[in-house]
Amino acid sequence: MKYKAIRGMEDILPKDIAIWQWLEKTARMELESYGYTEIRTPILEDTSVFTRSIGDTTDIVTKEMYTFKDKKSRSLTMRPEGTAPIVRSYVEHALSQVTPQLKLYYMGPMFRSERPQKGRLRQFHQIGAEVIGSNSYFADAEIIMQVSGMLKLFGLTDFIIKLNSLGCKKDKEAFAGKLKKYLKEKESILCKDCKTRIKKNVLRVLDCKNETCVQVARSAPGTSESLCTPCKDHFDKLKNTLTKTKVKFKETGNLVRGLDYYTGTVFEITHPSLGGQDAIGAGGRYDSLVKDFGGPETGAVGYALGMERIILGLKKEPKGTLPVAYVATLGDEAKIRGIQIAEKIRKEMPNMIVFTDTKDASLKSQMRNADKNNAKLVVILGEDELKISKATIRDMATKKQISVGLESVPEEIKKIVGA
Ligand code: HAM
Repeated sequence: MKYKAIRGMEDILPKDIAIWQWLEKTARMELESYGYTEIRTPILEDTSVFTRSIGDTTDIVTKEMYTFKDKKSRSLTMRPEGTAPIVRSYVEHALSQVTPQLKLYYMGPMFRSERPQKGRLRQFHQIGAEVIGSNSYFADAEIIMQVSGMLKLFGLTDFIIKLNSLGCKKDKEAFAGKLKKYLKEKESILCKDCKTRIKKNVLRVLDCKNETCVQVARSAPGTSESLCTPCKDHFDKLKNTLTKTKVKFKETGNLVRGLDYYTGTVFEITHPSLGGQDAIGAGGRYDSLVKDFGGPETGAVGYALGMERIILGLKKEPKGTLPVAYVATLGDEAKIRGIQIAEKIRKEMPNMIVFTDTKDASLKSQMRNADKNNAKLVVILGEDELKISKATIRDMATKKQISVGLESVPEEIKKIVGA
């Protein structure tokens, strides 16, 4: 019998690992510079950790969880997301007593039994961040600013941050009432699932992927008319802060997100070139969750990015390729200068992966090697060039070449990769 990986669960092979490690490394550096520390929770949790928090009428809980009984007949679930386990851990270890505001990040595999397609897997990977212990709109603003900056560092520019507020529990109820009224009039054309959703959890109609339901959802009332004064004030201040700090966003009145634990701010980050699965990340506030898990009243906000979708997005963007440089050299003298230049590039751009020729290969074979290693640019150093203290930098995507002074190679590379 020939074994294969389980459908929707992929091997990440050595040839593809560089981009994964680079994203993880960049995320760690960036998140730690904002004061986040890593948390690692188990893959398996008691099933109720998810059913209670995500909501037992959501798609994730009703259709997508990998749930099974262990030998002692306990119901366990492979984590479909990272927020609920973190809140479980936060309450279990009384982390609120460690510091009044905890900034946590995580990265790793999540499991959802969805129908696999491009950008949708059954084992996928998230990078996530959670700020637990703040009710202020500043926490929302900072986290959105942080994720937007990090996506740019990854090389993504073509993304949209959709922003909305669901309001507090009371506002959500008021909104649900208005939505129900609107949907009742359209009930006959909605899908079977949505007919049930109207009764059980009306907000979930707005996440339905059925074409007719999507059309109906488009003209549904937005959440803004249901916001109470403090929630409206929070949302206005958040939008104002983002505008003043030049973080671009698009207010989207009927964005509700597919998990029940959200209250207040919600956001979704999309990359328009990705088609059906265009959400590269999402997040929001979950001010009731810590209390629901038995902890103290605690405001919290967070997000998670889908790594596979980020990698797909990077492939669509000119600056999105991995920052790999290859220093190609011809002759002993050039090799020594090449090693020195490679060292300088590594020092000045710690994120850059720099290859040099260690085989004394021909220029043609070095160029081939550069291509195999996904080099974004090649620094070419030949004997003739060395005599006039110059090097050639070739942009592998545009095929453009420039001749630069040896000393300014790192500066010129920075310009090309936009560092
Ligand atoms: P989510 O929207 O369910 O939120 O997932 C976040 C991101 O994970 C999505 O935007 C997408 O990029 C990726 N993703 C989800 N499902 C799949 C899949 N089947 N295949 C590939 N990628 C997928 C959460 O998980 C929340 N915990 C986010 C959060 C953190 N909210 C507050 N804190």
